[in-house]
Amino acid sequence: MRATPNQMPALADIVGRDDLVADLRGEVQRSSLVLLAERRVGKTTVLRKLDDALSGAGCLCLRQDLEGCGGVREFAERVARAATERLKGLPRWRGQALGLVDRLGGAQAGGWALGGGLRRTWQTVLDSAVTDLLDAHKTGLVALLWDEFPMMLQGFGQPADPGDGAGALLDHLRALRQRHPRLRLVLTGSIGLHHVLRPIGKTASINDIEPREVPPLALPNAVDLARRLLTGESFAAARAADVAEAIALGADCVPYYIHHLVKALLARREQPLDAAAVADARRRCLRDAADPWHLTHFEERLGTYYGDRAPHARRVLEAVAESVGPVAHEAIEARLRQTGDTVDLPELLRDLVVDHYLRADDGSRAYAFRFGVVRDWWRWRIGCDE
Ligand SMILES: Nc1ncnc2c1ncn2[C@@H]1O[C@H](COP(=O)(O)OP(=O)(O)OP(=O)(O)O)[C@@H](O)[C@H]1O
Ligand SMILES: [Mg+2]
Repeated sequence: MRATPNQMPALADIVGRDDLVADLRGEVQRSSLVLLAERRVGKTTVLRKLDDALSGAGCLCLRQDLEGCGGVREFAERVARAATERLKGLPRWRGQALGLVDRLGGAQAGGWALGGGLRRTWQTVLDSAVTDLLDAHKTGLVALLWDEFPMMLQGFGQPADPGDGAGALLDHLRALRQRHPRLRLVLTGSIGLHHVLRPIGKTASINDIEPREVPPLALPNAVDLARRLLTGESFAAARAADVAEAIALGADCVPYYIHHLVKALLARREQPLDAAAVADARRRCLRDAADPWHLTHFEERLGTYYGDRAPHARRVLEAVAESVGPVAHEAIEARLRQTGDTVDLPELLRDLVVDHYLRADDGSRAYAFRFGVVRDWWRWRIGCDE
């Protein structure tokens, strides 16, 4: 296997994730899911493997990447087109949804009265797509796997008519889930859904959807991935197992960073290839002005996620980055007091944990960075690096 951090691995090349996907497959029998993870941890890869596992278990799956989908109408159209594509040629398919898509543009796109209530064309198109799928597959679950769902909702902004906004779509999807017991949604994306739901007061709209964490790879799988990449790139190391472990640990077991680390070693063909060479390559990557691992994103997105609280969040992260070990809540509080910050610190810390910046060890009120890569990059940024 080659070191290609930006390429989707073929299904057969996905390392690990068997247990997680088996668990998720079981969970989908009971409920819709939202997969939570830090960016680049491997959500899309897990979603593809889950698609394969569910399809193998008799579920009709429709997997879509919704990035760049600009509004409810485009969303309904994309779902209808994908459903049509999926069902073409199946004997029971009636294909109602696509016939309605033309109405999405122009004068007929707004709402119209039906049975006393205001119905909108996008709702009808979406309902028809779901009904088409359920009608064509009477024997099991229909699962709609939607990648980058939160980013899509965020992209909707605030349409002139709130009936065409993210909140209306969330309400409608909830109604669809309630109406169709064989329908499942599996949602994921690189923005935490809570950042989109909270400002529009819709956190309750997905409380029937089970949240599931997608963690980094288990260490043995991360080591296995590193070994496969080293072999694929024809690296020879006297102590290959040690080198693979150093790569896995240096990358926090995140497959994307593992690919990158092997790629960085490849650039120089380090000799001897040992754990020290891995540490050197990692340090170079974290300090590279070209930011090959896209770590500035962790800093930049604070503005988007935290709004007015972004400066406070930055100071909290600096306070934690300055220390090698975990930092007590009281020490962070004292630090904010020095700079005159007034902010709801427990809530801010909770959000930084949910957003995978920090972790709090069980039962303690002390915080450390969730990922060593992010910690070490932050330390370097603020001049704490040795
Ligand atoms: N299980 C795996 N085995 C091998 N490589 C993997 C695995 N998971 C992820 N990768 C590698 O990491 C890269 C990023 O994975 P993926 O796109 O699934 O992450 P993501 O969490 O969806 O990212 P984003 O936050 O950008 O949406 C992939 O292109 C692939 O190179
Ligand atoms: Mg993804």
